[in-house]
This record gives sequence, C-alpha cells and structure tokens, in this order.
Amino acid sequence: MDQILHFILLLIALCSVSECVRRQYHFINERKTWTEAQRYCREKYTDLATVDNMNDMNELNKCVNDRSVQFVWIGLQKTGRDEWQWSSGEPALYLNWGYKQPEGRDNCAMMFSGTFHDLSCNSKRHFICNNANTALILINQTMNWRDAQSYCRQNHIDLVSVRNQNENQQVQQFISDRQLSGSWIWIGLFRVRDSWQWSDQSDSSFRYWDSGEPNNVGGVENCTVIKPNNQGRWHDISCSNRYPFVCHEDVELILIKESLTWSEALRYCRQNHVDLVSVHSEEIQRHVVNVVKQASTAAVWLGLCHSRILGIWYWVSGETVCYQNWAPGNGTSEEDCEHAVRSGAVQSGEDQRWISRPETDKLNFICSRHK
Ligand SMILES: *[C@@H]1O[C@H](CO)[C@@H](O)[C@H](O)[C@H]1NC(C)=O
Ligand SMILES: *[C@@H]1O[C@H](CO)[C@@H](O)[C@H](O)[C@H]1NC(C)=O
Ligand SMILES: *[C@@H]1O[C@H](CO)[C@@H](O)[C@H](O)[C@H]1NC(C)=O
Repeated sequence: MDQILHFILLLIALCSVSECVRRQYHFINERKTWTEAQRYCREKYTDLATVDNMNDMNELNKCVNDRSVQFVWIGLQKTGRDEWQWSSGEPALYLNWGYKQPEGRDNCAMMFSGTFHDLSCNSKRHFICNNANTALILINQTMNWRDAQSYCRQNHIDLVSVRNQNENQQVQQFISDRQLSGSWIWIGLFRVRDSWQWSDQSDSSFRYWDSGEPNNVGGVENCTVIKPNNQGRWHDISCSNRYPFVCHEDVELILIKESLTWSEALRYCRQNHVDLVSVHSEEIQRHVVNVVKQASTAAVWLGLCHSRILGIWYWVSGETVCYQNWAPGNGTSEEDCEHAVRSGAVQSGEDQRWISRPETDKLNFICSRHK
C-alpha cells in the first residue's frame, strides 16, 4: 500500500511541481586548511562558497555568526594559469600572434600588419573602439592601454575584440584604409598572469578585494579569505592555514500539490531523497514566496515543527529557528503547548507569513533537494 501510494504521489509530483533553485550559504565553524574545507563542502553541500555579486556577499557575510573569527575561507583559488583575455570579457580563443609572438615580457597587445604582438601597456598608441553597432572607431589620439580602455568604455563600448579570422581581416582593412598600416594599434587583448578560479568552476568575475589585496606576501598566498569584521572584504592568504569556512548549497525547492498531513509530507520528501524545506534566511523565504503562489491549499507545510518537551520550534534539518517570519500570534510556545501536535506552514495567499497548524491538517508542501 505504502509503495502504491508512493508511486502515485511520485506521478503527481512529476506533473504538478513548481521548481526554483537558489544558493544557500552555510558557515562551518571548524578550522581546516582550504583543501580540507573544500572536501568537507563537496561532501556535505555543493562546494566551497562562490560569490556572484554584492547581494551574495552580504548574505555570505551575514551567515558568519561568530564575530570573533578573523578569517573565513571562500572558494576562490589562484590557478597559476597565464591567460590572454579580451577587455570585453569574451574568452580569447582566436589568438592571431605574429612571428615569435608573444615575446612574453609584456601584458598588453597591439595589432601590426594584421597580427597580434605583445607590447608594454605604458606605450602610447592609437587604438580602436567598438561602438554599439559593432562598428569600428579609430581614435586619432595616442594613449597607454589602460587609458585607451577607459576612453572606449566611456565614449563607446570597449576596446575592440578580434574574435576570428573574419574580424581580423576587417580590422586589418580598417587600419589600412586609414593609412596606419605601418603603425602599432592597441586592441582589447591583455594578459592575466595569476588568474583566480572558483572551486565550483563558476565563471563569476565578481571580486571584493580589500585595498592593497591580493598582495601575495611571501609568494605563497594562493587562497582567499573574507574578513567578517571588515564587511567581508577579501584577502589572499596561504592555503595551508586553518580557518573556518563557508560552503554553498544549490537547493531546488519543489512544491508538491498534494494534500497530506505534516508527517506524511515529511515522509514523502525524505523518501524522495529530499527534505521538507527549512527556511533559514530571508533569501530562502523569498524563494518560498515564489513557489507557494502555485499552491492549491491556503497554507503549505514547511519543515518546521514544535517540540512539546523542549517547548521550542526547530527545523527538520536540525537547525534552530533564528530567522523568523511568523504571523502575529503564531510561533509562541504558550499557544502551541495547549494544542496536540503543531507544525509550521506558510500562508500561500497574499501574506506569506508562517502559521502554526495542527499536524493533522492536509496541506500542500515544499520539498528541497540538493543540486
Ligand atoms: C601557488 O600557486 C602557483 C600556481 O599554481 C604554484 O606554482 C605555487 O607553487 C603555489 N604556491 C603554494 C605555496 O602552494
Ligand atoms: C589624425 O590627426 C592628425 C592631426 O591631428 C591628422 O593630420 C590626421 O589626418 C588624422 N588621421 C586620421 C586617420 O584621422
Ligand atoms: C496565526 O496567524 C493567523 C493568520 O494571520 C491568524 O488567523 C491566527 O489567529 C494566528 N494564531 C493565533 C493563535 O493568534
């Protein structure tokens, strides 16, 4: 019977779920080397933390709930790779180097007679910008590479990218049409000697280095920590030091539009290698709000339950309830102790606050699954 019920529920689930993926940070207050921390995060969650933007950075720094720690690992590590990149951020796959180029001393590139050559970034040269219509614009002034880049970004789009043979011919023709064939003209190619990479291979280019960082003191600073007491700003540091760390977990929320009691819902989620959702933060609550809009019941079960013995609410993931979003009058232990067994749900209507319900109510529910 149980198996049949399971099967039916699975079919229903496949046809009527709303999904939503988001990243959740977990602060682990154990001192490990960067590599040990990475192994731990990959086993228990998704990976050492990746940061995509300032929003992520604030969430991450907030989750470090022990303000006495000085440094905390995140997933950014130096690769030691030496790469040429386009100023526009496009990958440099087509590199039309001239004979014996690049010579290896310099970090910027110019075009001369249709091929690429490395050149000191301080050299003052004419340069070509791209404008909005991907047309080419010759700037008839000489500047060093950085100033040329700023000029193009301010007045047009960026320094020109030369991404294939066709574009190479266009740029070469463009230069020769302006009688500059014999000149060295800046293009948007530059060299990154110590590129950094996220543990989860994310291509996020967001960086939040503290001033003067990364500084590679002693030539051994290949990993990245945040300083919780300095808005989470980043420092490079030796990977063999031991610090607490932050993992991230990519979690998918799935609304199951079947009405079950709280314990049935819990069992259903767990049988499918998932759990009833635990809402640890405002960010997860926002995702819950998105998902519950599709619900067919006025409230939707969360992994929130009340221990009558301890007189407290807790998440089925084992965590205590720190972030709270109770509707007025709900979530107080006095109220809950009077009733039989209470569990937590979120309202699916206009106001998505949490309410306490008898666990025998039959409601839709939200499962979470690690990606
Ligand atoms: C740091 O990274 C570079 C490039 O991968 C490597 O050559 C060097 O040995 C590393 N240093 C340490 C101390 O791990
Ligand atoms: C660049 O400017 C100089 C003098 O300002 C002028 O003689 C020359 O024709 C200009 N070149 C182009 C390609 O516009
Ligand atoms: C819990 O919140 C709901 C919705 O706002 C409300 O109707 C109910 O009265 C509250 N429960 C208590 C015990 O106040």
